[in-house]
Amino acid sequence: MPRLTRRDVLRSGLILSGSTLLPHAGWAQARALMQNAIDDQALPAVAPREKLLFDYGWRFMFGNAEDPSKDLNFGMGHNNFSKTGEFEFATAKFDDSKWREQRLPHDWAVELPFVWDDELQSHGYKPLGRKYPATSVGWYRRTFEVPASDQGKRISIQFDGAFRDALIFVNGCFIGRHDNGYTPFSFDLSDFLRYGEKNYIVVRMDATYNDGWFYEGAGIYRHVWMIKQDKLHLGQWESYVRTRMEGGAAVLDLGTVVNNHGAKSENASVRWTIRDRAGKTVATAQAAAQPVAVNGSATYTATARIAHPELWDLDSPTLYTATVTVETDGTARDAEEVSFGVRTVHFDADKGFFLNGKHVWIQGTCNHQDHAGVGSALPDRLQYYRMAVLKAMGSNAVRTSHNMPTPEWVEACDRMGMLMLCETRTMSATPEAIEALKIMIKRYRNSPGIFLWSMGNEEWELERWPMGVPIMDDMQRVSNELDPTRLCTAAVNGSYYSGISKVLEVEGFNYNLNSPDKYHQTHPKQPSIGTETASAISTRGVYRTDPLRNELSAYDTNQPGWGETAETWWQFYHARPWLSGGFAWTGLDYRGEPTPYGWPSISSQFGISDTCGFPKDTYYYYQSVWSNEPMLHVFPHWNFEGQEGQPISIWAYSNQDEVELLVNGKSLGVKKVPALSHVEWSVPYEPGFIEARARKNGKVVLTQRRATTGKPASIRLTADRTTINADGEDLAMVRVEALDAQGRAVPTAMDMIDFKVTGNGALIGVGNGDPNCHESDKGSKRSLFNGLAQVILQANKTPGQLVIEASTRGNSLKPATLTITTQQAPLRPEVA
Ligand code: GAL
Repeated sequence: MPRLTRRDVLRSGLILSGSTLLPHAGWAQARALMQNAIDDQALPAVAPREKLLFDYGWRFMFGNAEDPSKDLNFGMGHNNFSKTGEFEFATAKFDDSKWREQRLPHDWAVELPFVWDDELQSHGYKPLGRKYPATSVGWYRRTFEVPASDQGKRISIQFDGAFRDALIFVNGCFIGRHDNGYTPFSFDLSDFLRYGEKNYIVVRMDATYNDGWFYEGAGIYRHVWMIKQDKLHLGQWESYVRTRMEGGAAVLDLGTVVNNHGAKSENASVRWTIRDRAGKTVATAQAAAQPVAVNGSATYTATARIAHPELWDLDSPTLYTATVTVETDGTARDAEEVSFGVRTVHFDADKGFFLNGKHVWIQGTCNHQDHAGVGSALPDRLQYYRMAVLKAMGSNAVRTSHNMPTPEWVEACDRMGMLMLCETRTMSATPEAIEALKIMIKRYRNSPGIFLWSMGNEEWELERWPMGVPIMDDMQRVSNELDPTRLCTAAVNGSYYSGISKVLEVEGFNYNLNSPDKYHQTHPKQPSIGTETASAISTRGVYRTDPLRNELSAYDTNQPGWGETAETWWQFYHARPWLSGGFAWTGLDYRGEPTPYGWPSISSQFGISDTCGFPKDTYYYYQSVWSNEPMLHVFPHWNFEGQEGQPISIWAYSNQDEVELLVNGKSLGVKKVPALSHVEWSVPYEPGFIEARARKNGKVVLTQRRATTGKPASIRLTADRTTINADGEDLAMVRVEALDAQGRAVPTAMDMIDFKVTGNGALIGVGNGDPNCHESDKGSKRSLFNGLAQVILQANKTPGQLVIEASTRGNSLKPATLTITTQQAPLRPEVA
């Protein structure tokens, strides 16, 4: 099937209808970048290589970490490692018909109930771990076919990431183990397959041990692929494209490795074809033939030039592709496409960070990888949605705290114009940690968005002790060898003088605003960056902190002892360009780490947006100081029934000169917006409306009203896109609200809404951003939390319509229906 591009879609008149998911400045541009990124599907495999999606057709059942009788008798009888091939559960003899059907990516932790056990607090109170053997092990099984014509090829299975400790069995044989929850892994299955017959694969995932101190999910939560190649093939993630500028031209330093798993020595050459976005060849290069011995490998390098490159930048993330082909006697034996951008990055110890020679403040957020409704198993499209939420805030960078990210999060940065600080999970020089670091750098070093590598987060012992120095030296050496174009940092919290900081190429500061000045004076040549800041806490739509309800007011006034408010950290960093800017903890809320309250809070309150990506008010502070688009945001809402006469604090964020506030039409005066801050009034509550007017050069340019609404009367459903691709993967992110009789959104509505989905797709998750809500993310109903809930709809592969109906019990609110068109789209090739 042809690959539809955005241009094709526009030409065909199938223009993707717009809607206002986030009705504020900045969203239109972010949405356009998101749409472009969605249209530019992941790079397909290049012939003769095949890359097949291995996500569909699996079955799943819970095992047991303690009781073998509930764990397929794993480890008992013949089900142990004494022979290569006697694992019966991975053969035709085994009946999995009672296992449930399960497509990937899948996170089973999100399906589990919440359990009040303080040991589970940081992971979001999901029953995983040694005390919960019945819910910590999951088995995945699938039957698949390999045609007889594949005999002689090299066939491997590639997992983009699975949590955690995977054991893989194929056709009764043990294939391998991988216990890192964040790095990709693959196994060569060629010798174990039955060509022209049915094959059986079983994966046992054991999430008993965790990696982090935050929700991590459980199961095969990223994509799985089958790769079919010639036995003479390019090494995995060996192809790199390093760019540097010479005059106005881009010089490309190219390299790759060819492996020979065949039975005879080969004389192989490598060819590179560089294409621009429109598919036009802009450069080529060739590396001469050389012998590649049996079971050996050979390294190839070349250079190419793009005479007039379009640079990759934050507003125009231009990407090029390099097709790398290995040939013998003019025949292509294996090939792959590598996406890259042409741009320069540079740190100056006095002036901060420069992209393409221009100073850029790092306006970043740290983020974990889970989202409402789906846990850590995010469909690709959700990565772009999350990125759009951050981009529309004026943010230009993300940090992948505290682990190697999923490929689609990196691609979202590259395609949407976001910088990335890419972090490895473990700061250490053990073989495992070094291997994980190598995988991360090789896998992502061609990404133009990545501007800096992070060697890890808050390893207090290594910060304090001299042993931090050789460990960091080892890590940075590995990083520099694999990628001489980027520097390394680490997120350092507290001890800056005796350990890793002595050798870090870029000093990373977490919190501790009393430290950078003195450190910079004593280390004037070392560049710096704010690796982690803020940890400000707030609950969306709440305007009075209430410890009895585990809720925090959304005014930017709350932070734990180690944190800072948004205004405090940004003002501090902005006064010190040498700090380069920094990364606020966090862009979106995540499960786990409920702070400052524990149970029944099950998710963090650090997010600038909630777990659905719905902005809290502080989002607009960042927008006022990070974005150039004129903006105004006044809060709170004006629904304070029962508090008549009591003082209410009214804040406004704006990047205009001054703001006037009116209450029920009466002006309370005009206030100048202080630099990097907000304006504020205290007003006795009286129902009616408040109105803010932002002025530039004395002229009103923006107004915003908050009116006292009536009670909820009807439901409104709005999708971020009402035409999506019928590719089995695309999503419509549906915002659910209650409106009063006059059609105004009720910001305090808490109604329970039932959903019914029919047509060509399914509901895959629900959420509402409430850190204290214990309703199921996998149910077909959700209560509104302060006026909002979210439903994630996924298209199937048949074009048509996807209809969602929303109602309340007894039709207390007028129901709503929304129809999403699912349009024909290219399907990714799959394993049969
Ligand atoms: C930091 C840590 C983060 C998170 C945060 C909460 O010290 O790096 O992972 O725990 O605190 O404030």
